[in-house]
Amino acid sequence: MVNIMNYEIKYDTRDNIASLLSENNPEKVELIRKMAHDVLLENCGSGVYYRGLIEFSNRCVSDCYYCGIRRSNADVNRFDLTMDEIVDSALWCAKNGYGSIVLQSGENSSRDFIDFVCRAVETIKKRSVSEELPNGLGVTLCIGEQSEADYAKLFAAGAHRYLLRIETSNRELFKTIHPEAQSFDNRVECLRRLKRTGFQVGTGVMYGLPGQTCQMLADDILFFKDMDIDMLGMGPYIRHSSTPLKKNKNQFIIERDDLLRVSLLMIAVCRLVLKDINIAATTALQTIDPTGREKGLSFGANVVMPQLTPVDYRKSYLLYDNKPCQEDTKEECKNCLSARVGSVGREVHYNEWGDSPHFKRKGESKN
Ligand code: 5AD
Repeated sequence: MVNIMNYEIKYDTRDNIASLLSENNPEKVELIRKMAHDVLLENCGSGVYYRGLIEFSNRCVSDCYYCGIRRSNADVNRFDLTMDEIVDSALWCAKNGYGSIVLQSGENSSRDFIDFVCRAVETIKKRSVSEELPNGLGVTLCIGEQSEADYAKLFAAGAHRYLLRIETSNRELFKTIHPEAQSFDNRVECLRRLKRTGFQVGTGVMYGLPGQTCQMLADDILFFKDMDIDMLGMGPYIRHSSTPLKKNKNQFIIERDDLLRVSLLMIAVCRLVLKDINIAATTALQTIDPTGREKGLSFGANVVMPQLTPVDYRKSYLLYDNKPCQEDTKEECKNCLSARVGSVGREVHYNEWGDSPHFKRKGESKN
């Protein structure tokens, strides 16, 4: 029997953070979970916020070794939603009280693409205004690395949050999962550009990558702190059968059986260290455990992203194998998710943007 009475949860140094992330005593894991949950309630309240996820194009100029829609994967049917399809999905969200959407796509920096996204954002912002949403839907973009001028255009069009995952803050590991042309420095520079532009900035990593250790994950958390980020979307790395990284299968340091625990501990420890940021319980969590997203919420997450991509296109947006929620209609997603949120004693806050309290506080302290 381990005596856990005197167990002290410390997260003040890299080593302490790494040791929390490696914890595998179930009673200690539960103590970490409880503490993270308390920190969540104190800093963000118990509400859960929806971001309707619209994956509007799978064309991608990048060639990330882990991703199913990478440029070189010739098996993928490439698609683009029409303006009407995007706007209709967004307006469905507004009508159903979602408050916010995420527009996500593969990476593309062409003039036409950026103009198209700007027009989509402007149209959605204008047409989603209602009594419940006097400022329209909150719009988050997740469309990759862009120039500062283009970030500024997208912000001016009305998007106010942006997600760009760093994937790993370890340069060497970053190099093993990306081709030479995709540089770590540019990714970091893009995060800085987004901050300068005025976006609420989200980033994130994958855990369980070949060669990745808990020390590296501890560094990721310190990276988030250092960059003063507002939101996090992280998830376990899951193999995709037609990507180069799948060949690395013998080099996993975090074993598959441990992946769920490490995923949940990452959420909890991020909550402890970063306190008042928004953290998503991502779909990838549900791939490794049927109730992964609920578990994510009870370990300190406060955002979920119901699937809005029209069903026919979802099979062409498979970033990894066994992605769940492929057939559910948007109504089914809504009901299923609200039941999942309720099952862990939490409640969806409808018709609110649910901005990062961290970002709001930074604004207040400037005034
Ligand atoms: N497993 C888990 N997450 C993945 N992503 C891409 N491929 C995978 C995979 N095989 C994530 C990346 C990217 C986000 C859009 O999806 O972190 O930033």
